[in-house]
Amino acid sequence: MKKFVITIDGPSGVGKTTIGKTISERLNLNFFSSGSIYRSVAKYLIENDVAEVDELDIEILSNRCTVNGIFYDEKDLYDQKISIKSSEIAKLQDLRDNIKSSLNQYFNNLDNSLVIEGRDMGSVVFTDAKYKVYLDADLAIRGKRREGQSNMVETITDVQKRDFEDKNRLISPLTIPDGALVVDNSTFTINETIDYIIESLKLQ
Ligand code: DC
Repeated sequence: MKKFVITIDGPSGVGKTTIGKTISERLNLNFFSSGSIYRSVAKYLIENDVAEVDELDIEILSNRCTVNGIFYDEKDLYDQKISIKSSEIAKLQDLRDNIKSSLNQYFNNLDNSLVIEGRDMGSVVFTDAKYKVYLDADLAIRGKRREGQSNMVETITDVQKRDFEDKNRLISPLTIPDGALVVDNSTFTINETIDYIIESLKLQ
């Protein structure tokens, strides 16, 4: 079968990573979180004095992202400073173009299909994706979920602010991709959401 892409987009705290990872495990596909690239770049910029953001070397190899050769462990990417910085740098067109081409190259080199989550995966980066999902949930519920995430002291107000920035930036704003399955999982558990997506998209 020809390899395909399943994109999962949506605001913070809808469970994109957990849901995407579990779907990929159930179907034996690759998984990648594009948020981890923005977070890795943000951490690199916090720790290094860089003049030209668009000259960063961003590579994704074997499901790991490196920035100028440095790999950051997932557990070091989730703090408030990095969340704020990643949302800030997400407004930069050259950086987004750079990340888009790294992601397209990563997919081209894969032998198998890919589940990928983010904010613009279905609308900008993988516009031809076979399956597109847009996850949403009430703000209060998303804020609560984020507060419970390890290392993450993000309040409802922080989530609201970051959502506003992600939805209202001029370049690649968070939006519902054309043809996406829209799922509001405010009243669903993670497993119910996964079952609903697999059933609706007839993935199994
Ligand atoms: O999903 P996350 O919280 O790890 O993402 C961190 C930030 O990165 C988010 O506020 C916006 C940005 N981002 C983006 O602009 N586009 C993506 N595809 C993924 C993340």
